Amino acid sequence: MSIETTLILIKPDGLYRRLTGLTIDRLDASGLEMVAAKIVSVSKDLAEKHYAEHVGKPFYPNLIKYIRGEFHGLSDHRVLALAYRGEDCIAKVRAVAGATNPEAAAPGTIRGSFGRVTTAGQFENVLHASANPADAAREIALWFKDREILP
Ligand SMILES: Nc1ncnc2c1ncn2[C@@H]1O[C@H](COP(=O)(O)OP(=O)(O)OP(=O)(O)O)[C@@H](O)[C@H]1O
Ligand SMILES: [Mg+2]
Repeated sequence: MSIETTLILIKPDGLYRRLTGLTIDRLDASGLEMVAAKIVSVSKDLAEKHYAEHVGKPFYPNLIKYIRGEFHGLSDHRVLALAYRGEDCIAKVRAVAGATNPEAAAPGTIRGSFGRVTTAGQFENVLHASANPADAAREIALWFKDREILP
């Protein structure tokens, strides 16, 4: 185990449905520390860089629309980008977040409590959380400047 930093994005459904406070509550209750936070307007370029691993998958076009708020009629494309830090942080945040598919996510997880699947089959799962140390490093560099994160 080691001290890790992970990237979290509260996605447009989380902002639109006023789930920001509830989501941060769950993250804070995990004993991890918030070390960065900002609202970001997600450009197409940033969305595509962030989800590069999913290019070509059937859900990819809608994934880009979803993270840019286009399913919620949000013209400003906003998400809340956070970095959390602590012992074994990446796995702990993934555990608090729950499974990718909100209908499969365990009760008590953020996605199990607040996520939903739309009638069109889109997973609206409230937040993104880095999957592993390599992804976390890449994603933090994509979303934050060094000076925006507590050292
Ligand atoms: N089968 C699917 N159908 C619809 N949307 C999907 C599907 N699989 C993944 N997604 C969407 O793509 C996102 C990225 O998928 P990924 O496999 O990286 O899941 P994740 O790591 O749990 O989620 P995230 O990367 O957002 O934290 C998911 O959060 C979800 O919004
Ligand atoms: Mg992922």
